[in-house]
Amino acid sequence: MNYSALNQVFFKSCSEVSSETNTPCYAVGGWVRDLFLERECKDIDVVVVGSGIEFAKEVAKKLNPKIKVNYFANFGTAQFVYDGIDYEFVGARKESYQRDSRNPIIENGTIEDDIARRDFTINSLAISLNASNFGELLDLHGGSADLEKKILRTPQDPDITYSDDPLRMLRAVRFASQLNFKIEEKSFEAISRNSNRLEIISKERIHSELNKILLSPKPSIGLDLLYKTGLLDYVLPELKLLHGVELYKGKGHKDNFYHTLQVVDNLAEKSDNLWLRWAALLHDIAKPQTKSFSEENGWSFHGHEVLGSKMAVSIFKTLKLPLDQPLQYVRKLIFLHLRPIALTKEEITDSAVRRLLFEAGDDIDDLLLLCQSDITSKNEAKVARYLENLEKLKLKIKEVEERDHIKNFQPPITGEMIMKTYNLKPSRVIGDIKNHIKEAILDGVIRNDYDEAFALMLSVAPKYITDAQS
Ligand code: CTP
Repeated sequence: MNYSALNQVFFKSCSEVSSETNTPCYAVGGWVRDLFLERECKDIDVVVVGSGIEFAKEVAKKLNPKIKVNYFANFGTAQFVYDGIDYEFVGARKESYQRDSRNPIIENGTIEDDIARRDFTINSLAISLNASNFGELLDLHGGSADLEKKILRTPQDPDITYSDDPLRMLRAVRFASQLNFKIEEKSFEAISRNSNRLEIISKERIHSELNKILLSPKPSIGLDLLYKTGLLDYVLPELKLLHGVELYKGKGHKDNFYHTLQVVDNLAEKSDNLWLRWAALLHDIAKPQTKSFSEENGWSFHGHEVLGSKMAVSIFKTLKLPLDQPLQYVRKLIFLHLRPIALTKEEITDSAVRRLLFEAGDDIDDLLLLCQSDITSKNEAKVARYLENLEKLKLKIKEVEERDHIKNFQPPITGEMIMKTYNLKPSRVIGDIKNHIKEAILDGVIRNDYDEAFALMLSVAPKYITDAQS
């Protein structure tokens, strides 16, 4: 069954239950918006003027009696999955909020009340599922005109809408970035006024919106809006510090905030890997802390890749982003982001390429994508030269990898072999011998091959063992 036919079966069932139980019901929210925008949407929200839970149970029974309906009596919501689509039901409600919490005080309401409390006019459209006017659009706040005009506007006074639920300020920026919509001026001003209210929002919700901004087609739209509205102070203050150009004796450096945005956009054109986009966002994060000026060299940011890689840890911790594989990957890319270009500035030696391959491992291609995205000079000749050098480096990397297999480096001589040959117990000297062999392979003294590595072990191990015993 295709997507639209599936929807028809579902909506028909809603309509039948609506007539049988005399309960008005409407499809609302993101699904209606995305229908207009021709975007795919896997969640369908239904509002009923009555009990959402009872209604959901009746609809599920019609579709397939085996469907398991999950419901949350406290919130009056119910949910089930049918053929890969997530259906959510809720009774129409009126809400009012307390200042220090996102949890509303809920009362039953009309469909009009329910629609008016929503975040944006484009999310306040409803389609009737009632038999009498099935399929009729209920557009009480000019949502379809705003979709046409590509505008984000709140149905009520924006100060109230954002104050009711401050997460909506981030949602505004996120929708602007995802859909390439403008935030209406009054709304923009209200966000700027209320930005500090993001303080009551959980870090998980903040990072989820930030991830959606980063995954949008042109993330710079959202990132620049975060800066301009002041939300960045509560989302990623470290990024804000990159903004601006300092002048000393007439010499300025580039604005690292806008440079970073350009790098993220460049990368977004080539990859939709979220964590690679994060690496692009943070690649220069330590520039403000490492900035210095000297007469001979002008501005420099010595060691920003090392400090930046450390700062990624605290940023991920603060935002409650995953600290396992994604963080290690982002750290590695930040740490290595200068290496490929630095390599191309000299004659590219095999051993330098082997070392890069050893450190980057399977992430070498992502690192090269990041480096390519990092070339943002306005000087076209310079860009062309860098790109050409990077291409040469890629060829060299391919050649060295095909020959030496360094990417997933496994030491040809293991610790076990060393212990067995010399009848040793596990100790530091084993690591020293293994390291000696690894360095010899990376430097090209021997090949990445068992026989050569074994011969090297026989020649160097005795000295390591004697030194360790003395
Ligand atoms: N909504 C709201 N305020 C919020 C979150 C949601 O008013 N802070 C309303 C909007 O009408 C929204 C609907 O609830 O359309 C459903 O919310 P959700 O599923 O979170 O968002 P979608 O609009 O569907 O968009 P996305 O799935 O991209 O988040």
